[in-house]
Amino acid sequence: MVVQPNAHIGMVCRDLEKSIGFYKKFMGMREKFTLYYGDMIPQDPEWLAKIPQERIDWLKSVADVKWIVYLEWPHGPEGYFLEFFHELDAHIDNPPSKEKFGLNHLDIVVDDIQAFYQDMITKGGEEFIDILPGPSICRSYTMWFHDPDGNQVEVHQYTDISMQRIGRELPKGVVWP
Ligand SMILES: [Fe+2]
Repeated sequence: MVVQPNAHIGMVCRDLEKSIGFYKKFMGMREKFTLYYGDMIPQDPEWLAKIPQERIDWLKSVADVKWIVYLEWPHGPEGYFLEFFHELDAHIDNPPSKEKFGLNHLDIVVDDIQAFYQDMITKGGEEFIDILPGPSICRSYTMWFHDPDGNQVEVHQYTDISMQRIGRELPKGVVWP
């Protein structure tokens, strides 16, 4: 199993535009992709039915507001990002929790997320796992765990169509759950 360290670090921003503007201006970072609150409304009716109507209504009311912006470094290494969250969601019960501003989580990338998960279980790490492996909006597979100090770690297994690889544009005819 291959683990790529520190693929991204996630941060919760008081002012998203100010923060991404800062990193673009002073670090020369570039946008890889942006997710909007509306992206959290599932297309699949089965998934949609699992979300409370109140939450759907709220997401619709802020559908065009930026939720997450991924910036990449101007000179690589390729596949390393900073991830910026809009503060709108910072105080909402939407795991992983974003109770505070600033550094929020570390992300690692593995080549086989199920193998990584099973390995943690086998080694007695079940108590540290917060969210089981599953598909995410960015078209990667994701799981979450925390370390003994409570630091949140996100794990990704990329696909050929992961936004981290190809950006937001989805090739024609390709479907993602
Ligand atoms: Fe992340």
